[in-house]
Amino acid sequence: MSAPRWVSAFAPASVGNVAIGFDILGFAIESLGDTVTVSRVERPGVSISAVSGIAGELPTNPTENTAGRALLALYEALRPGFGFDMRIEKGIPLGSGLGGSAASAVGAVVAANALLGEPCDRHQLLTFAMQGEAVASGSLHVDNISPSLFGGLVLTVGIDQPRVKRIPVPEGVRAVVVHPHRFLATREARAMLRREVTLSDFVWQTANLAGFISGCFTNDLDMIRASFQDVVIEPQRQALIPGFATVRAAAMAAGALGCSISGAGPALFAWALEAQAAAVLAAMRSPLCADGTALDEWVEDMRSQGARVVASG
Ligand code: HSE
Repeated sequence: MSAPRWVSAFAPASVGNVAIGFDILGFAIESLGDTVTVSRVERPGVSISAVSGIAGELPTNPTENTAGRALLALYEALRPGFGFDMRIEKGIPLGSGLGGSAASAVGAVVAANALLGEPCDRHQLLTFAMQGEAVASGSLHVDNISPSLFGGLVLTVGIDQPRVKRIPVPEGVRAVVVHPHRFLATREARAMLRREVTLSDFVWQTANLAGFISGCFTNDLDMIRASFQDVVIEPQRQALIPGFATVRAAAMAAGALGCSISGAGPALFAWALEAQAAAVLAAMRSPLCADGTALDEWVEDMRSQGARVVASG
């Protein structure tokens, strides 16, 4: 069989942080994602010939584009002997907090890797995709890249040599995700954060992260509910998301296990048992829609397989 001329890969959206794992924990959302097509071209280097879908204004200079920078990192490491041209179909709204920049970067490296006959494993692809994420947010963080690449709920430890651990989501737990149609720049939502954390908040947040992860491994929903609270980042960022405190209170009153900001926002998410998911969604929707804001919403089981090749030719 001859080598393909082009490969398309789909990379899912994701919820970063998951309340208590700032920059290190995230889960994939299969209902939406970006599709990136990488073609081999004679001219060496990396180019972007099209950005379509719900794209807004995205740069096509590869060094300024998240997918372009990720593909450049792979290209420079592997030197394939031909060039890559890329077309990006955006299915994730920009500035939504749903991991759009990560998905484009992941889609690019998964498609290019397939085009080259899979020389890299997913851990190597992770390090290339991380270079792309840095373009969008100004820092190397992995909480959207890892779930988009590996699927499911994922913890990533380390930046230079990231180690990825899939965390089991207890049976019957669903993610409720709502996206009010507003733009929020991740870079600004990061710049506003204080650089220091008090000792008591440090203790509380590490206890919550440990409690949440052990609760996932032991199917302990009470532990998950008790520890599903971000005491460091969310109190600072909620000012950027009008109505957040009301939405969170409504979700918890409707039976959610926890509710927080998706990544840098403005999308919000909750975890709930399947039987309560519809009520939690309705509770979150009504305060957000009260002023006429349009909304997208999803209920997900979080059993995602991560990025994958969807077509080639
Ligand atoms: N962990 C990142 C943040 C995710 O909250 O800034 C941004 O998508």
